[in-house]
Amino acid sequence: MTDRRIIVALDFPTEEIALDWIGRIDAGSCRLKVGKELFTAAGPRFVEQLMRRGFDVFLDLKFHDIPHTVAAACRAAASLGVWMVNVHALGGRRMMEAARDALAPFGQPPLLIAVTVLTSMAQEDLMEIGIAADPEEMVQRLARLAQSVGLDGVVCSAREAAMLRRQAGAGFCLVTPGIRPARAAADDQRRVMTPRQARMAGANYLVVGRPITQADDPLQALRDMSQAMENEVIE
Ligand code: C5P
Repeated sequence: MTDRRIIVALDFPTEEIALDWIGRIDAGSCRLKVGKELFTAAGPRFVEQLMRRGFDVFLDLKFHDIPHTVAAACRAAASLGVWMVNVHALGGRRMMEAARDALAPFGQPPLLIAVTVLTSMAQEDLMEIGIAADPEEMVQRLARLAQSVGLDGVVCSAREAAMLRRQAGAGFCLVTPGIRPARAAADDQRRVMTPRQARMAGANYLVVGRPITQADDPLQALRDMSQAMENEVIE
């Protein structure tokens, strides 16, 4: 048993590679995120396998479509039995309401989370698609919209977490990628935070990929990260 506040991003190309890796950890040690690559390659039966092994699954497919289609996709995710699912807040109020309403009849629906502004997008990218607001303003605006619709939370960079925690209050779930242990390589992430910084900023769940998936001993890496959330030394 380590820490279920950690969601490991299963960024592997095939089911075989992913299952091989999962054999090295256990279900109590973390939750798992399945994104577009692995879901497209391995599909819902693979997700079921993960759940049969006792893992909670965050299905990270970032639904963004007309309300009817997103509602149907959310229903399919809930029927599959995943723990968390997400949509793009840019799909707007009616799309998010349809997603929320589609989950309402389920006894134990997945947590419904919104993506605000992709962290890969800078001011000039927003300008180019006709959005004049700066990225931070957009994140705040979309998080407020998601919360007003009744979504459970948002995915955000750990750097936005403190601001969103102040804005949204205690009950709103903040899921933060871009986490690196104090002395680890940043890989291609530009603005990283340590596990403890993210937690102090108000993150509920940390999404971590390579620092865990590429570790020689993933279970030990999970334990270290869990420990670091409480009392890492920040140099
Ligand atoms: O390996 P690493 O820890 O960078 O993986 C982070 C995971 O979180 C990846 O699956 C990545 O796609 C995802 N993610 C992210 N930044 C976002 C949203 C999702 O890194 N803003």
